[in-house]
Formats: sequence, structure tokens, C-alpha cells
Amino acid sequence: MRVVSVVGARPQFVKLSPVDSAVRARGIEHLIIHTGQHHDAALSDIFFTGLHIPPPTVNLEVGSGSHGQQTGRMLEALESELIRMAPDVVVNYGDTNSTLAGSLAAVKLNLPTAHVEAGLRSFDRTMPEEINRVVVDHISSLCLAPTETGMRNLRDEGLSDRSLLVGDVMLDVLSSTAQMILEHGSDLDLPVAGDYVLATVHRPQNTDDRERLLEVITALALFPIPVVLPVHPRLRDHVARFDLRLDQGALLPIEPLPYRDLVAAVLGARAVVTDSGGLQKEAVHLGVPCTTLRDTSEWTETFDDGMNELHFAAQGLERVALRQAPTEAGSVRPSPLAADRAAEAIVTLGLESPSPRRDL
Ligand code: UD1
Repeated sequence: MRVVSVVGARPQFVKLSPVDSAVRARGIEHLIIHTGQHHDAALSDIFFTGLHIPPPTVNLEVGSGSHGQQTGRMLEALESELIRMAPDVVVNYGDTNSTLAGSLAAVKLNLPTAHVEAGLRSFDRTMPEEINRVVVDHISSLCLAPTETGMRNLRDEGLSDRSLLVGDVMLDVLSSTAQMILEHGSDLDLPVAGDYVLATVHRPQNTDDRERLLEVITALALFPIPVVLPVHPRLRDHVARFDLRLDQGALLPIEPLPYRDLVAAVLGARAVVTDSGGLQKEAVHLGVPCTTLRDTSEWTETFDDGMNELHFAAQGLERVALRQAPTEAGSVRPSPLAADRAAEAIVTLGLESPSPRRDL
């Protein structure tokens, strides 16, 4: 059996890592196509080395562009690669333009496709990721959902017969990484000793409008404790374009962190402020209060006990971000160190299982 995974952006490398291990552990051939959506070493190469993923079989080097340009370039290049590789199944991850292109290229070739992280919805169709999620779920042969909420969303869209609840691969890798850090420490070297907030900002709704970006930067700069800010290229580009400054007030801008350092930075933080889907979950599962700089989220479970709060307004951000963590949280939250087995379930229940595969 030959599995081809299509990835291209930072969060997909994290999701790929446990799936790659589980696929190879079953003796299945695994080829990796990197679309090249993320091309900076800090967003790409260090994730492959840090997460022990073999180098991509091929890198399509599509780079940046508008959504149409980026997705179009991927589609064209993916089609010929997939014909050449002749996979039994193509696996796509998450909700990026690489996910959309990987799924579309494969289904047009009548190749079976599986979508890891299926069923997530923010119900905000102005987000490019939401369009990618909906389209990819509806064209995939197999929808692999991380949560019950995801399964419900898939059912509501008439997709139950090809959906499986497998768990969250990001928690597989988070659990093992956190365990390693707690046992062996980390090399994380932050420009701050003591208390800090960890913040990340990269979604278009926060970065692409000058007024909004200025508001967010100003609110974070006024925090009473240091705010460590790993700077995503989209943020870096827009700060330069709008002639804004990150080195001010409480802000401590740093380069994007490798995965293990990011987990260590969350573990050491008093609070997390972010617009990233992955970081919301990582904070909550590591017991660090999170404030999400958006007005919707796909990870609704993270709000259940107050560990995550949506707060889009810059006004009042400091008060919400530095709120007391709910004290009972630790007792209800599964330990971050509990072994999660989502990747294994994806392979044994999803990719290898004869029944869903018959429908593929
Ligand atoms: C993409 C995903 C988003 C995910 C995020 C994680 C889509 C629609 N969005 O957003 O879901 O949360 O990745 O990072 O696919 N750039 C570089 N170097 C790089 C990559 C990007 O300089 O290695 C620059 C690009 O020139 C562009 C900007 O960063 O100006 C944004 O890159 P892009 O791939 O469009 O999307 P992300 O914002 O990273």
C-alpha cells in the first residue's frame, strides 16, 4: 500500500509527524509532497528536523501569492506528481490552501482521499480556511474527525457515512513533546526571565488592515508584563508595509519558534493570546489560560471551562488575557501527558480498514 501525504504550511507539518510515524510503523510506504506554501526555514525545515519527519519526497516550491495564484499553481504541479506516484490513498491535513489543492487534485484523478481534521467549522465564510474546510470535507472519500463536534458538523452536512471519529493528532504530538520537555528540559532561550504572556498574530483579519493591526499591537504593548511575540511572516510583512513598530512597550518580538520551543514557551507562560487554531488548543491542554483574538473558533470544546475565551476587541484585552485561570480546570482536563492515539486510529480504522476503504 502506498500513502501520499500533501502538506505545505506549518501546522500541517505538526499534524503530519504522528501520522508519518504511525504509517511507517505499519510498514506502509509513505511519500510526502510539500507544496512549498511555507518556504522560510523557520516555518518549514526546522519542523521536519525537529519533529523527525523524513524530508519531503518532492517540494513543489509554489511559494506565496494570492489565494487563486497559490492554489492554482499547486493544483497544476500536484496533478502530475500524483499521476507519477500512483497512490492508494492521498491524505490531506487541516484547512490551508495546500489542503484544498491536495484534495481537489486527487479527487479529479479519482484517487481515494482522506481528510485529517475533518468537520471543524467556524461558520464564518469570510475566512479562507472555512471555505477550504467545507470544500475538502465534501469532496473527500474519508473524513477523519478530531472531535465529537466535528462529527456532528459532518452529520449535519450529510457526511456521516464517510466520517470517522479518530481523535486529534495535534494532541498526540503535544503529549509526547510536553512529556519530553518535562523529563529532559528544553533549549528555549527567551529574552525574558519570569512572568510573561505568549502572543501570536497572523490571521488576515488581524494583520491585513492597518487600523486593526495598530490596535492589536498597541493593546499588547500596554500589557503590565512582557509579551513574547514570535513573529509570523504575514505579521512581519504587514508591520513593514504599514510602517508600524513591534519593538515597543511590553512587546518582545522574536523569530518564529520551532515546535518543541513553542511548547516550552506555552508551558512557561502566564497566559496565551493568539489567533491561531493550534495554539488555542495547545494552551488549554497544557493548562495555560488562552485568549483568542477572533470572534469565532473551530475548537468550541476549549471554551467549556473558561480556559479559552474569545475576545476580538482590542479594548479590555489585558483584563481578559490576565484573568484568573479556573481553579477546577486541572481536575476536569485530561492530562496533557496522557498518550493520545489519534494517528494510530487514522491508520488502522481509516486508511487500512477494508470497510471505509471500500467506499473510498
Ligand atoms: C497559512 C494558512 C493558515 C495557517 C497558517 C499557519 C491558508 C489559507 N492559510 O496562513 O490556515 O494558520 O498558514 O502559518 O492556507 N510567507 C513567508 N514565508 C513563508 C510563508 C509565508 O514570507 O515561509 C509570507 C507570504 O509571503 C505571505 C504571508 O507570509 O505574505 C502569508 O503566507 P500564506 O501562505 O499566504 O498564509 P499564512 O498566513 O501563513
